[in-house]
Amino acid sequence: MKKFPPDHSLFPLPFPDGVHLRIFLKPEAVPQILLPYIRAGGDKYGFNATLGLQDPASQETDRKKLVIESSSPNVCDFQAKHLRSALLGEFISRFYEKSGWSVTRVNFPNDWGKPMALLELGWEQYGNEEVLARDPTGHLMEVYRQIHEALQPEETARKKLRDEINNKKTREEAQDLEQEVADLEGKGLLAARNTAFARLENNEETVMSFFKRYRELIVEDYIKLYARLGIKFDEYSGESQVSHDKMLEIEQALKDKEICKESEGAWIVDMRDHGAKSGAAIIRDRTGSTAYALRDLAAVVDRAEKDGFDKMIYVVANDHNQHFSQIFTILKGMGQAELAGKLEHVQFKKHTKPDNELGIGHKASTFLDQWETAMKEVLKEDADAVALLGDSDETAKALAMSALVAQELSVKNTAEHAHDIKAGTSFKSGTGPELQKSYARLCTTLRTLPRNAELSSEDYKTLGEDEDQTNLLRILAQYPDIITAAYRTHDPASILAYLVWVSKQLTGCLNEDDGEDEPAGATEEGGESAEAGGAADAVEEQSAKNPAAEGALYEAARKVLESGMTLLGIAPIAKV
Ligand code: ARG
Repeated sequence: MKKFPPDHSLFPLPFPDGVHLRIFLKPEAVPQILLPYIRAGGDKYGFNATLGLQDPASQETDRKKLVIESSSPNVCDFQAKHLRSALLGEFISRFYEKSGWSVTRVNFPNDWGKPMALLELGWEQYGNEEVLARDPTGHLMEVYRQIHEALQPEETARKKLRDEINNKKTREEAQDLEQEVADLEGKGLLAARNTAFARLENNEETVMSFFKRYRELIVEDYIKLYARLGIKFDEYSGESQVSHDKMLEIEQALKDKEICKESEGAWIVDMRDHGAKSGAAIIRDRTGSTAYALRDLAAVVDRAEKDGFDKMIYVVANDHNQHFSQIFTILKGMGQAELAGKLEHVQFKKHTKPDNELGIGHKASTFLDQWETAMKEVLKEDADAVALLGDSDETAKALAMSALVAQELSVKNTAEHAHDIKAGTSFKSGTGPELQKSYARLCTTLRTLPRNAELSSEDYKTLGEDEDQTNLLRILAQYPDIITAAYRTHDPASILAYLVWVSKQLTGCLNEDDGEDEPAGATEEGGESAEAGGAADAVEEQSAKNPAAEGALYEAARKVLESGMTLLGIAPIAKV
């Protein structure tokens, strides 16, 4: 206490509190430190302490390289998890970009294998060129739905047998059932599907030409779909694009090192040999076709050899936990530990409720249309929002996508959720539209204020005296911590919650400026100070407005909101 400088510019004298000395910043010190700091940071504020990632200012040439795979939908089966992965992947991509990395966004659709073969069979049975010309993806979805439905009785019977096999104790008991499975797979659609897949794997002309057309149509459609969400992939690779030679090379290496063994006609890696309690990764199945795991192994080894990267992230639902842990383990087993160390599976929970709007038989674009239609209705009813944002088609669409993105990203990666268009498109606190609206309101206020004036110590002082404004400053000061925490978890939910918090506090400040404050003292803590605060506010309302100080504060808040919203993929609609 004795040694503490008596007229320190930032700290008043500490006061003793039991065994502690309490040290506070002077109220004016917070804006005095923070506002210039935020201003200087520009759109890097929050990221400049960055996380051991990389110096954002470093040269283009020594940027670290991230490859990120996300969405990766299945053949004619775009599910809720593929949407969530796309949005989460975009968030993570932007995060790394902001932190100075160069990022390659990859979509790896499941466009090969048995589902592709099944679609080809469906096309033979239900395909119609005219309908396809009118509505390519719509028709393909419908064809796939029909053939998928036709296959279900066989799939159910097979699954039943498989369950029985798993329940049998002895090998002999299981053997008879295995024969039954083989019989089942030897006829009907299951057999036809295997044959069609073998023809694909052999590059047979007729199936291949259908496959190429399918891929072209579907990728064209994906590009438009993701564009509506503000997402652009650098690359549509996918299971069909994996180098055949690389697959053979990996398979051979696995056999040479005896990592992969033959088991009932298939080639598998028994994960028990690699420290797992159970499980096997199929490399080549018993019909002789390449399997999913082999394609993933070959794809990543090939990519590492050709382009190289410092890190690769797979944004895939938790139904792939075992798959990726097997892939990473096998790589290590193959002597590719360094490569395995660069790979990360960012998982998230699949939706619980069955999704009636997405999945087999549904076009994902129709789902986005539903959000837009709902949003248009809600917007019409909200005069404030219309006054702030307008009611053009464009605005409604942008709001709808903000609604969807915010709902998806408001849930922690580990938690499950279902879509709720009504809740998502409302202007209630915490939704995307509400965030857009409060951002627009802030812009309106800012247009009447100087945003970049140099502030005097007097100006800082007025900011320090207003409780709402001081609280806003304290919240803005926390942005870097929020960012750092989100980097560790790859989880956007806390950032969204934070932005909602900023915008709530802003509403408090702006309402007070408008003279719409709650009754004096209602939000204060202690009785005595409440009265004093209320009285001070009343005086301030008439005289002590400080446009330069407020302009600087609100501009800092706007910067933080803009930064966080853009990061999440909810680009602000309003402009200052
Ligand atoms: N298509 C897969 C699914 O729908 C996700 C793709 C996972 N990525 C990969 N490289 N295997 O669940």
